[in-house]
Amino acid sequence: MRKSQGISYAKIILIGEHAVVYQQPAIALPIRSLTVTATLIPRTDDRQQIASIFYQGSLADAAQTPFAGIATLIRRLLTFFEAPAQGFDLAISSMLPPERGMGSSAATAVAIIRAVYQAFDAPLPHDSLLNWANVSERIIHGNPSGLDAATASATAPQWFVRGQAPTPIDFPTTGSLVIADTGVPGQTKTAVASVAAKLTQDPAHYQPLIEAIGQATSQAALALAQDDLPLLGRQLTISQNALRQLGVSSPALNQLVAAALNAGALGAKLTGSGQGGCMIALTKAPAQAVHLRRALEAAGATTTWQYDLVESEDPS
Ligand code: PMV
Repeated sequence: MRKSQGISYAKIILIGEHAVVYQQPAIALPIRSLTVTATLIPRTDDRQQIASIFYQGSLADAAQTPFAGIATLIRRLLTFFEAPAQGFDLAISSMLPPERGMGSSAATAVAIIRAVYQAFDAPLPHDSLLNWANVSERIIHGNPSGLDAATASATAPQWFVRGQAPTPIDFPTTGSLVIADTGVPGQTKTAVASVAAKLTQDPAHYQPLIEAIGQATSQAALALAQDDLPLLGRQLTISQNALRQLGVSSPALNQLVAAALNAGALGAKLTGSGQGGCMIALTKAPAQAVHLRRALEAAGATTTWQYDLVESEDPS
């Protein structure tokens, strides 16, 4: 093992969350300005130490903590490389707020997988990376679609259908998204389970909402292809209405969505699993995003970020 470093990104789901669990398409984008970095340094003794804002301590003691999913991933990676007792210091530094729908757990997993593979000088095919990320995502989320890991490991926006290879999708070069944090943690596992329970109890009522989100996502892809920001904005708001009826919005999210639309946004919706976390709003141009951020902060957003769609151009 040698010293190594892995990097990954925050992700924003533009459209399609929850429905993507049930085979509908989704569109998500990496936010390359918000990174997770995992730095792995081998030790000469056999201590396995982790330092992060989520967890501080030994790998063995992480079993009963919220870090257990990531700890299992690390243990299985070490076993795979036939080094289960290798001593190390793993430092994880993250610019992502945890439990806010920005894919913090998947981004952490991706950064660690990259660091471990590099530490053992092993090539890492993209499908292996996604399979490894699923190890911790299954423990943390229960039934992950794989969208978070696919986006946290990508450099460009992705069109994603569960079980298929993700494909890059072009974004217009005008327009901006404002991301706003309600300050309330969301719980992906609970939100995903609540939608599953609703679909089992009353499929006639809830299944059409899943399909409506899928249709809005297809229309959003058309809007992206035609640089039609007003059409894209309408699809965001349509999907928000379906997500609210699925029970995954919240009063704080509804308030920020209403504030964004009142301030002239082309469309607005929650992003990620909801029931807390972040929302996004679309504007025509970066100048309007500044005004929108102020409106969202006045309506109670604890943090806002601006993402100009031109940033989506793949650097590689
Ligand atoms: O809350 P996040 O960032 O983990 O996003 C979850 C997205 C869902 O569609 C709700 C679940 C999934 O596995 O795709």
